[in-house]
Amino acid sequence: MSNLYILEHPLIQSKMSLLRDTSTGNKEFRELVKEIATLICYEATKNLPLKTIEVNTPLSKTKGSLISTEIGLIPILRAGMGMVEGILSLIPNAKVGHIGLYRDPETLMPIEYYCKLPIDADKMEIFILDPMLATGGTASAAIQFLKERGIKNIKFICLLSAPEGIKKVQSDHPDIDIYTAALDDGINEHGYIIPGLGDAGDRLYGTK
Ligand code: URA
Repeated sequence: MSNLYILEHPLIQSKMSLLRDTSTGNKEFRELVKEIATLICYEATKNLPLKTIEVNTPLSKTKGSLISTEIGLIPILRAGMGMVEGILSLIPNAKVGHIGLYRDPETLMPIEYYCKLPIDADKMEIFILDPMLATGGTASAAIQFLKERGIKNIKFICLLSAPEGIKKVQSDHPDIDIYTAALDDGINEHGYIIPGLGDAGDRLYGTK
């Protein structure tokens, strides 16, 4: 079974409360998404492999460590884009791909309409980014599309999740670890997380 990490750090929880608040405007919302993504990234990179290197300090030589794997960020369009900059502030060399999905109105199946991945993505540690894990349909489909392209090392990073979405991803992809800043009560009949924060894409970009 995949691991579920709910990050209860006080900095994350305080910022999540501001993020949820309906009076938080677009600019502050964007800043908070970026900051929370940065803090989650700190935790999600905890077990990355290291290689030993030699470092020349001004006084002597010593052994140091560098992350030994390449990292790829794949935001799910469009709200996942809001998380990219925060993660790049910690991992500036990460490559960034994009995946876009929509739900077919008749079959309700997720259809991929855009996918551009980093070269050699199958050799990287991949972080899929989406602020909201609601039903889990999009997340599960995105993971599936990446797996079909030979990508194996995937972590799913979101800000807010619902039990339905966690269950769906865990049952479809038991090998994928999920990192989230909060696990809410559930989803309503429109697919929104309750209590949630509303539509993450609209709040990021000021659209309706
Ligand atoms: N997507 C959102 O933006 N908000 C939700 O509550 C669920 C999915």
